[in-house]
Amino acid sequence: MKTILLGISGSISAYKAADITNQLTKMGYKVDVIMTKSSTEFITPLTIQSLSHRRVHLDVMEEPDVALINHIALAKAADLFLVAPASANTVGKLANGIADDLLSTVALALLPETPKIIAPAMNTYMYQNPIVQRNLTTLKEVGYQEIEPREALLACGDYGRGALADITDIIHAVNTTLKE
Ligand SMILES: Cc1cc2nc3c(=O)[nH]c(=O)nc-3n(C[C@H](O)[C@H](O)[C@H](O)COP(=O)(O)O)c2cc1C
Repeated sequence: MKTILLGISGSISAYKAADITNQLTKMGYKVDVIMTKSSTEFITPLTIQSLSHRRVHLDVMEEPDVALINHIALAKAADLFLVAPASANTVGKLANGIADDLLSTVALALLPETPKIIAPAMNTYMYQNPIVQRNLTTLKEVGYQEIEPREALLACGDYGRGALADITDIIHAVNTTLKE
């Protein structure tokens, strides 16, 4: 059974991560989920754990197994790292090596060969911001695959690119990458 390490960050589209968790689990993947503090304002860990049937990881200082260092164990166990949705903040942290929460710390501890997929979701002006674009370029240069956001009428009322990619496209990218 392959293990997918799913990071959920603080976007209005975080509720869609429940569907991603559900579908991947039902496909037979072991889905270990890390939620940022902000993401728990949008969707509860209870929802995610009920769908993944696994404990959700929230805090870098929480060590559920005293025999292990959790962030290292999670990183090493991952056959694929997926961040969906990826907020502008989390994109920035991953691109710049900031490790101030569990998700960003685990990202730095991944083995070099672990495939990494990131699905950003944010306001269209945030997505177009040169700083965010530069951060995404940096991530792609170090091996991340970006599943680009869709153009849509966004929750904030703006129309443009920024909506989380379709779940089917994200799942397809995971399946294809793991088959390679
Ligand atoms: C209602 C609401 C919706 C938000 N939606 C997004 C979003 O879609 N994308 C984004 O990058 N930030 C969004 N934010 C801002 C992030 O939640 C904020 O930058 C946060 O610090 C992200 O933290 P994280 O990356 O640790 O999850 C939203 C904030 C609020 C209050």
